[in-house]
Amino acid sequence: MGNEKLAVEGGAPAVAKLGTYPAKIGRDELWGIVDMWDFSPGVKEKLRQVIMGDPDVRGPHLFRYYNPKPSRVEAAEAAMGRLIGSKHCLAVNSCTSALVSSLRALGVGAGDEVIVPGYTFFATAATVGACNALPVIVDVDDSLNMDPSSAERAITKRTKAIVPVHMRGAPAQMDAIVDLAKRKGLPVLEDVAQAGGGSFGGKRLGSIGTMGAFSLDYYKIFVSGEGGFVTTDDEWLFTRAQSFHDTAACWRPNRFARERRQGELFCGENYRMTELEGAVALVQIGKADEILTGLRRVKKLIKGGIDKLPGVSFRRITDEAGDTASNLVFFLPNPDVTRKAMEALKAEGVPAGGIYDSTVRDWHVYTFWDHIIQHRSVVSDGLPWSAVPKEELPKYAPDMCPRALDYLGRAILMEINRHWSKADCQAITNGINKVLRAYVK
Ligand SMILES: Cc1ncc(COP(=O)(O)O)c(C=O)c1O
Repeated sequence: MGNEKLAVEGGAPAVAKLGTYPAKIGRDELWGIVDMWDFSPGVKEKLRQVIMGDPDVRGPHLFRYYNPKPSRVEAAEAAMGRLIGSKHCLAVNSCTSALVSSLRALGVGAGDEVIVPGYTFFATAATVGACNALPVIVDVDDSLNMDPSSAERAITKRTKAIVPVHMRGAPAQMDAIVDLAKRKGLPVLEDVAQAGGGSFGGKRLGSIGTMGAFSLDYYKIFVSGEGGFVTTDDEWLFTRAQSFHDTAACWRPNRFARERRQGELFCGENYRMTELEGAVALVQIGKADEILTGLRRVKKLIKGGIDKLPGVSFRRITDEAGDTASNLVFFLPNPDVTRKAMEALKAEGVPAGGIYDSTVRDWHVYTFWDHIIQHRSVVSDGLPWSAVPKEELPKYAPDMCPRALDYLGRAILMEINRHWSKADCQAITNGINKVLRAYVK
């Protein structure tokens, strides 16, 4: 002891060879994944043979970086970038993460204002607050998306970005919003969570503004359980979003390299997508045409069959060809008739409901965003609300978006299932007409 020749000096290495041991995620865990579904005994047996019986299956990697196998997440990014027509695409683990990464990439922080519509899932506004910035809530129009003139009136010296949302599958008025943003020198971050694959003026949503944020949670058009994407043509914004989503530049072309340009390295979070989600997302993106064609076929059949009654009007679609057709929305004369019609539709077995009822809490309408309206903060520093003098904070009030409340309170919403048959569509249309004829003369 003590006299043995060190390996660095030409001695024999102490560890000549280690054995081959199971991977961290092994066969049992793989089987655990399979076991989540209700496969038939025959299918289960086939899977069991593949997973348990294959001596090469030591376990999946599931981490997108350092993966010895071709990354599914990377393949999904390439497929999504191609589909949307964006030069850069970054996979993340949710649209919430996509929004935060994009806002941070755009430099949004304490004291900045970001314009969002009063009708959207709360995440659009919450992520602005999570970046310590101030959400400025503006009204929608009869398209149920951001009203460009309300957005224009809301611009102040603090405005840092405009975030239109393509709600319920249909595009916002992107020509007017982009025109406004150009005139004011502001970036546009499209929230495409609910409208993956839609377009406006022949361009896919998420490729029209400066950046796009997508969701793949289970309730969206393309799904992977959880997941999201950031799209942009701007290489620098992509670099910054990529840095932010990966604990600030953990993985760059050369991960330990010094900053290539000031603003590349900063404190970030971990929003990485797993290989499991990437694999599902990749297949779903490949089905985009099939999914959109199905939705459009079904929506056309149902919408076309609804009686043209004077008291019934459809939600304005800003670009019919670009509607994903994931939802059908029509307005009735007043909230009272809408409530009655909703009950009657339910009794007829029509899968439709309302959007806004002041007595029923729902995170899609600003009136229920207590966190914002009441200036709530998670820590004692009081951010985001403490970043500007109190009297200069954006004004919030329950009636600040009167058109949103009017349209949403009179709206009937039906989520389209692309698999509905002609007979299903006919039955649904009959149910709708029956109810409308009874309640809307
Ligand atoms: C318009 C909108 N933005 C953002 C989100 C957040 O998406 P995720 O659940 O992927 O974080 C959603 C989800 O419902 C949404 O509808």
